[in-house]
Amino acid sequence: MTQTIPRRDFLLGSAALAGAAAANAFTCVEIASAAPITVPTVDKLSIRVLVDSSFDLFFRPKQINGVSIAPATRVGGDYRKSLHNEWGLSLWLESEGGGNQRTLMLDYGYTPEVLLNNMALIGVDPAKLNALIVSHGHYDHFGGLNGFLDKFRDKLPADLKLYAGGEDNFCHRVSPTPTQGQFADFGTLDRRQLAAQKVTTVLCETPTVIADHAFTTGKIARRSSERVLPNTLVEFGIKDGLGCNAGHYLPAEMEGKIVPDEHIHEHATCFNVRDLGLVVISSCGHVGIVNSVKQAQEVSGIQKVHAVVGGFHLGPAPKDYLTQVVSEIKALNPDVVVPMHCSGLNFAQEANAQMEGKVVVTTTGSRLTFGL
Ligand SMILES: [Fe+2]
Repeated sequence: MTQTIPRRDFLLGSAALAGAAAANAFTCVEIASAAPITVPTVDKLSIRVLVDSSFDLFFRPKQINGVSIAPATRVGGDYRKSLHNEWGLSLWLESEGGGNQRTLMLDYGYTPEVLLNNMALIGVDPAKLNALIVSHGHYDHFGGLNGFLDKFRDKLPADLKLYAGGEDNFCHRVSPTPTQGQFADFGTLDRRQLAAQKVTTVLCETPTVIADHAFTTGKIARRSSERVLPNTLVEFGIKDGLGCNAGHYLPAEMEGKIVPDEHIHEHATCFNVRDLGLVVISSCGHVGIVNSVKQAQEVSGIQKVHAVVGGFHLGPAPKDYLTQVVSEIKALNPDVVVPMHCSGLNFAQEANAQMEGKVVVTTTGSRLTFGL
């Protein structure tokens, strides 16, 4: 459901924001340490796709370059219920290392209805979760979060943390409409609701170790030929506690202006799997999938890339740009590439052409296993 909002109303509403941002003080917010991290090593990692755009009944288990891919498994025998698919992504991450198991959830799909339906059918246990991660401030990645918390908050750790990439994740997003001068609302990740659920948000502009097993890239440098392809627009500022503090990183005069969305604080979630190397999970990759992998290499000091996984936002890419990006991924020499969500069929075809035997296809419910 989109709401069309005249640009003039945005600007009028934003004019009152400047003071609010300056006085901004949120409870339930932590800033990640700027100290260098020690990257943990896990023995095994599995990624279960809770929400993606499609499901394939005839998907069969397979092994590609040491990575196991299993189809959806279902709990219960009610044939009338089906996994649902939608534009959005949610991943369930389970790791083993140091004699411990850890479970994380990365992104929450577009709607809680789909997320909760699929969690129940797949049979994942929220009581096992150690922490939550959100990749960036797009509704197709956080839309299911509040419904998930409404249903499961009492099963989750009392000191639950949501690891976000930074302040930018909380900015208001809008989409351009065919009508000049108007925007369609694309939502805002609301930290007031997170605070009400007693979830502490950690702003991870710097690399951050999560639950002793995973690490985030922190803010991703734009160091390749990649550019942010057209997506939403973003409004900097806070109104009634909703929105992002523009004074954190932008000149105050930026407040209230609606500008192309650069996803300043989109971050990637990563693991170092023993003897295999990095698994880099990019949920939407607006900042560039090559940039994301190189950031993971830099902050970890580990060059070997085992897998590049997730949304690469190359669906709208022009052909010559796509060809160039795929060649740069190839140069990183990953063992497998696992495109999901917004990566695009065009990406899968080009990657198959340039990296034959390395492209792994998954659908909603699939489980990837790395290691052991
Ligand atoms: Fe997305």
